[in-house]
Amino acid sequence: MGNLMREYWIPALPSSEFPVPDGLPKRMRLLGENLVMFRDSQGRLGALEEYCPHRGASLYFGRNEEGGLRCAYHGWKFDITGECLDTPTEPVERREKFCAKIKAKAYPCHEVNHMIWIYMGTRKEPPPFPAFEINTLPADRVGPQRIMGEEANYLQNMEGDLDSAHLDWVHRRLQEDSPKPEKGIRGFWNPTGVSPVLDVVPTEYGAYYSAKRILQDGSEWHRVNQFIFPFHTMITTGDGMINLRSFVPVDDEFTMLISLYANPAGPLPTNFVTGDEFWAEVGGYVERTNDPRTYFLTKANKRNDYGRDLKVQEETMFCGIPFVGNLQDRAMTELMTNGKGEPIYDRQWQLENIPVITGQNAPGEGFFYPAGTGFLTLPLAALSYRNGQLLWLAMLIGVVVLGTRALVRMNCEHAKTATWMAIAGFVLLSASIRWGSSMRALMK
Ligand code: FES
Ligand SMILES: [Fe+2]
Repeated sequence: MGNLMREYWIPALPSSEFPVPDGLPKRMRLLGENLVMFRDSQGRLGALEEYCPHRGASLYFGRNEEGGLRCAYHGWKFDITGECLDTPTEPVERREKFCAKIKAKAYPCHEVNHMIWIYMGTRKEPPPFPAFEINTLPADRVGPQRIMGEEANYLQNMEGDLDSAHLDWVHRRLQEDSPKPEKGIRGFWNPTGVSPVLDVVPTEYGAYYSAKRILQDGSEWHRVNQFIFPFHTMITTGDGMINLRSFVPVDDEFTMLISLYANPAGPLPTNFVTGDEFWAEVGGYVERTNDPRTYFLTKANKRNDYGRDLKVQEETMFCGIPFVGNLQDRAMTELMTNGKGEPIYDRQWQLENIPVITGQNAPGEGFFYPAGTGFLTLPLAALSYRNGQLLWLAMLIGVVVLGTRALVRMNCEHAKTATWMAIAGFVLLSASIRWGSSMRALMK
């Protein structure tokens, strides 16, 4: 799975972590591998394996100077591509030749709209850079990131994001008109209390689904979410914004949820709250150490029950944990198992559905990335794709039964009816297929 993930561009750290050229290098950990990242004299980003190819000293202590990172132990120096620029411990006359044989392990970085992405795979040419809106829209339409450290496996966290049914519970308010709690947002309300029905459509990039709820006036409310290989989701925001959520594995036990917003219609609202400010309501981040696993941990965490407020739980919200970011989700998914201690998500399905990686193509070649997501409200009279299929099946059974009877009895009237039913069934089948395609077209 780790090798598979390496074939994708991975969002790593915000640009703001490296404010100036030749600034201090920073430790990072991705897919269980320790890295050192730095911005060189030309402002370019580099990501090197943390340990120096000479004797394995940590390059984190290196000096970032004149186009490269110089190891503090014996002074060997490497640029952002891993090329060796200097080995001062070798005699001057053979230094150049010697240097040419040495290479640090380096991963290409790409910086766009406040974020630095890394390609950690083995291809000489990295795959196409993912064309998400947050990467392709002008910078003034893309918000600085909101990042949350999660103390659980990425899959445990991501599967919670793709589970629409939990909205009706952990995020809900107690009554339709329950007031907004002091911290966080007001909460979800399902007017009928009936659980959603999910309709999933597999795609080349992963899958999307509609979570259908019936409203009181009988219309259907579709909440449409995306899952994009290998660890992204796009969940409905409801305010016209695009929200890409990347569950980046730091290692098997730690994840960064990097949430990036974009406004396809114009510049971001001036009051858009980002980064550190966003977590202020729940106390902000813990003081970070030099360990990347502490970089984005919020003060509300599993050691203090995520700031649960029992009064809020009694009076306004189903769960007393403030609804900030996805703190409520995090409280649940960080401790969640399927009873056997395994994630609920079907990993096998994911592995079997990534032909672009197992074949010759690089991820992103030959398939598109989804364009956002959204709410749809549809009249009840419209047949859903699945209902259409069921109806068609019922018609088919009718045709078979009546046709058989007609044959047995040699009854001309029954034969006529069966013919009409067959025609009607065919028409309904076409309509349901057409409906399915238009749902897909809407999502694209
Ligand atoms: S260990 Fe880095 S130069 Fe020797
Ligand atoms: Fe949630």
